[in-house]
Amino acid sequence: MTTVAARLTDVSKDRLEFRAVSKRFGPTLALDRFSHVFEPGRVHALMGKNGSGKSTLIKILAGAIAPTSGEILIGGEDCRFQRPQDAFDAGVVTVHQELSLIPGLTIGENIFLGRLPHVRRFGLPMVDWIALNDRARDLLHEMGLDLDPRREASSLSVGQQQVVEIVKAMSTDPRILLLDEPTSALATREVKQLFGLIERLKARGVSMLYITHRLSELLEIADTCTVLRDGAHVGTVEMAETDHAGIVAMMFGAAAHATRPSRRDIRRDTPVLQVAGLRRAGHFHDISFDLHPGEVLGFAGLLGSGRTEILRAIFGADAADAGSVRLHDREVRGASPRQMCQAGLGYTPENRKEEGLVQILPTADNLCMASHDRIAPHSIVTRAAEDPYVHRQIRDLSIKCGDPENPVQSLSGGNQQKVVIGKWMNTEPSVLFFDEPSRGVDVQAKRQIFDIIWQKAAGGLAAVFISTELEEVLEVCDRILVIHDGAIVAEVDPTKTTLTELYRLCMEGPTQ
Ligand SMILES: Nc1ncnc2c1ncn2[C@@H]1O[C@H](COP(=O)(O)OP(=O)(O)OP(=O)(O)O)[C@@H](O)[C@H]1O
Ligand SMILES: [Mg+2]
Repeated sequence: MTTVAARLTDVSKDRLEFRAVSKRFGPTLALDRFSHVFEPGRVHALMGKNGSGKSTLIKILAGAIAPTSGEILIGGEDCRFQRPQDAFDAGVVTVHQELSLIPGLTIGENIFLGRLPHVRRFGLPMVDWIALNDRARDLLHEMGLDLDPRREASSLSVGQQQVVEIVKAMSTDPRILLLDEPTSALATREVKQLFGLIERLKARGVSMLYITHRLSELLEIADTCTVLRDGAHVGTVEMAETDHAGIVAMMFGAAAHATRPSRRDIRRDTPVLQVAGLRRAGHFHDISFDLHPGEVLGFAGLLGSGRTEILRAIFGADAADAGSVRLHDREVRGASPRQMCQAGLGYTPENRKEEGLVQILPTADNLCMASHDRIAPHSIVTRAAEDPYVHRQIRDLSIKCGDPENPVQSLSGGNQQKVVIGKWMNTEPSVLFFDEPSRGVDVQAKRQIFDIIWQKAAGGLAAVFISTELEEVLEVCDRILVIHDGAIVAEVDPTKTTLTELYRLCMEGPTQ
């Protein structure tokens, strides 16, 4: 028979306590004497603006980095893990902010990496591929995913990779699960599935630390919210006793809001980009639209609908099979991304880690690398020439990078995202594609990015904007194309469409 006292001790064995944990990276105090007790069996949100120390806290707990000082206890026992494997063995499992699947391995191999199931055949231990793929398929199915576990991870979109990472973490039966922005690449449907799984884990007594920038998720999933500001613990509140405004005030000191400038009149006589009948077999077909100077055009669609693939093909990163792309009235289909860039088209990709930035190079180099033609017309690149370009973006986008000579990988996730945008702003394009520009950036930085898009549009920039968060597409864009199954199925006016209606169009396509 289990007594109440026995249950209580049972529960307290997973209580997670931080005692004055600090982490210093050179001059940056990323975490400043953080102390808190996280009770087991609950979902604890971690909030704070970009660079406030959230990922650092999780990485320390996960054994990925060592704290400069302080103690961590789980169930009263000292748990300063030396290596990620130690944390894993203790049941502390992490889904990191930056994706980490091994591209050349299959989905199944990635999920069971380091613990591949074995059978004995002819007296020898062999990998049991059948069991591995069966188990992987079941797990994916549980998450509502119809993916073949034998597929290579490299063939997955960012959103699909994210789901596989989550499935992988769930499959280990964790005691404490750390999720660093697990939903930033997910669409509404996947988010719902993830929340279902989180609820189930919670019922099993698993504790979760959950980092997000999406305020709307807090009320839905979190039990408590812990706010960090510049590495310091501002406070922890019960979600039942607070609201969004209270949390935003804790994050920023005061609530920050920018309002959209009134909609401009867009001259529709001379389009800057004209796409007609564009097709890439197996990805999208019959894509035709015009984009005008000063216009912000939204692509709304679910994960895997083809939004990114269309932009990549226009930009020349993937080949299209048929159709035409005219930029400034010149046929450019088949041009390389480099030629596109010279012709005035820029593309901020959704996958900043692989396509957006060179991680080991300084922030300054990353900000300038797409605009050397402009900065140094005679091929002599000097820091003096680059400086104004670097500082303008750091200022306009409020990039928190300390010294711009530090490698960009030392920046927090959201600040890296801003560097990708800054890099393309420096090319002064006439057309710019924004693929998930607000992914991983805090609410205030998001406003800054939107403001910049609107400002540049007012100055004549034509933009295409993609976001998995349909609220943002409605807010930011002048006109929206709904993409469903690789085709444009509707054009909507954001001032005349509700969120529910847009969501329905994205889910189901047009009504027959
Ligand atoms: N390896 C590193 N070297 C140097 N500085 C670092 C390193 N990792 C993090 N930092 C710095 O520590 C601070 C906190 O970073 P952290 O990644 O924890 O922020 P975050 O709260 O997760 O932000 P975001 O919401 O943007 O992901 C930042 O100023 C960052 O630049
Ligand atoms: Mg982070």
